[in-house]
Amino acid sequence: MVLFNVSRVETTPFGDQKPGTSGLRKKVKVFKQPNYLQNFVQSTFNALTPQNVRGATLVVSGDGRYFSKDAIQIITKMAAGNGLRRVWVGQNGLLSTPAVSAVIRERVGVDGSKATGAFILTASHNPGGPNEDFGIKYNMENGGPAPEGITDKIYENTKTIKEYLTADLPDVDITAIGVTSYCGSEGQFDVEVFDSASDYVKLMKSIFDFESIRKLLSSPKFTFCYDALHGVGGAYAKRIFVEELGAQESSLLNCVPKEDFGGGHPDPNLTYAKELVARMGLGKSNSEVEPPEFGAASDGDADRNMILGKRFFVTPSDSVAIIAANAVEAIPYFSAGLKGVARSMPTSAALDVVAKNLNLKFFEVPTGWKFFGNLMDAGLCSVCGEESFGTGSDHIREKDGIWAVLAWLSILACKNRENLGGGKLVTVEDIVHNHWATYGRHYYTRYDYENVDAGAAKELMACLVKLQSSLTEVNEIVSGIQSDVSKVVHADEFEYKDPVDGSISKHQGIRYLFEDGSRLVFRLSGTGSEGATIRLYIEQYEKDPSKTGRDSQDALAPLVAVALGLSKMQEFTGRSAPTVIT
Ligand code: G6P
Ligand code: ZN
Repeated sequence: MVLFNVSRVETTPFGDQKPGTSGLRKKVKVFKQPNYLQNFVQSTFNALTPQNVRGATLVVSGDGRYFSKDAIQIITKMAAGNGLRRVWVGQNGLLSTPAVSAVIRERVGVDGSKATGAFILTASHNPGGPNEDFGIKYNMENGGPAPEGITDKIYENTKTIKEYLTADLPDVDITAIGVTSYCGSEGQFDVEVFDSASDYVKLMKSIFDFESIRKLLSSPKFTFCYDALHGVGGAYAKRIFVEELGAQESSLLNCVPKEDFGGGHPDPNLTYAKELVARMGLGKSNSEVEPPEFGAASDGDADRNMILGKRFFVTPSDSVAIIAANAVEAIPYFSAGLKGVARSMPTSAALDVVAKNLNLKFFEVPTGWKFFGNLMDAGLCSVCGEESFGTGSDHIREKDGIWAVLAWLSILACKNRENLGGGKLVTVEDIVHNHWATYGRHYYTRYDYENVDAGAAKELMACLVKLQSSLTEVNEIVSGIQSDVSKVVHADEFEYKDPVDGSISKHQGIRYLFEDGSRLVFRLSGTGSEGATIRLYIEQYEKDPSKTGRDSQDALAPLVAVALGLSKMQEFTGRSAPTVIT
């Protein structure tokens, strides 16, 4: 057994280590500064209870982006230095964010050990590479992101840190599965490298009816396509879709994980998932080839998803509503019924209507998956989702891209149970149209203004808050811009009281609510790494089934005009158009 010594290394604080919505995300160059990563990791160890450090088991892996391999070596040495008992690493350092959550909750090590937390190395959907982003976040014993109490403590620690602990271990080989043991003055330290997919695949098989999905995928009527955007989803796609479910290998796009995501932006939306969008017949220049019936993509760390039908986009807000409406019938895990459903505030109210019709408990939480975790731990919520392409359930404590794809395949398999032999295939588009016919449609769009001047973004938001004190003035402005939209009847900043722990989160987005149920929401992104990103969410409810088939940009054009006018978007940002529209 290799012997190691622990040393204390002197360091000085960095002023910019405040974790955002999902951990610390910065340019690789920032992370490469001497001691930068070390300071954050030590500050995290110092923020945890001693039993989650000394003698504990820590998972360290991520989406495989550039700098991950270096980071794994640094963190492993620091884990040994801080008296942890073992570190678990997915082979080649790869684990999707949902798989990390599953590993913390479900995995038992070769010696019967269980993990108490994880460092997930990802900047999610942000690009990767030497000039792009790296990120790190800590997940807790329940498999979910650290709550604000912990991330605040981490931040406080980063401001005063004076030293960190590290061991002089040799670099660990993370390419080969197996356990390597080392011996320090306080005892043994192990590094266990394990298969990245096995635990996750096992969990998925316990949730879904793989046999019925296999039948659907093997039917000549059904065609399928999945794009991992060169993220870590590729490490799961082949195992699940091809080996377990019998999909053709040619139905996988960009499924080899790459450190720089092939130079792309690993964000599954209509702008960045270009190849998939074109293949599904939604691109500008459509080829003659008949698009597949179903297409999906996931982001860098495979927790986000986008669902497409043939020449058809399913909004994430509709997706979670449709999954909730069909879960009991189509997914064995939910056969006993749903405990409740939840969405983030800017997500459309499509889920609300399902909850009401099916008499389900319903929660509206601020943006950020961690808010769902408390509800799930308390047994109040089974299915939840966000407009930001996140969908998931209480099987883990992260959103889950591949779970969402399997949920949709399950619904398709269920609706087509009788049709695969003869009869017409019920398509993704049919499922969505039928849903609208039953529940009405929430026209929805999101405008993102990326990397705008942070000061200007703050001012824009401050003006919108100030405006809220006089609805009369607001309505004068609104009718001046567009005479045919309904009246604003309420305006506020969203505030949330967690029903489980009573904690209060303020300033969670600016809302303008209209008489006819329409909404405008303005928020600053919490996940960017440069400047500020303003998000504008626009929604309008249509109950009349004869009017649910319009193009959403057409239907929402009047409200968009109102939103841009009310916020003086161009005046503040200098932008005449958003960076991304979804
Ligand atoms: C991450 C979180 C999501 C959240 C999203 C918001 O992906 O995991 O729960 O919805 O960030 O991002 P934003 O950039 O809008 O703050
Ligand atoms: Zn992600």
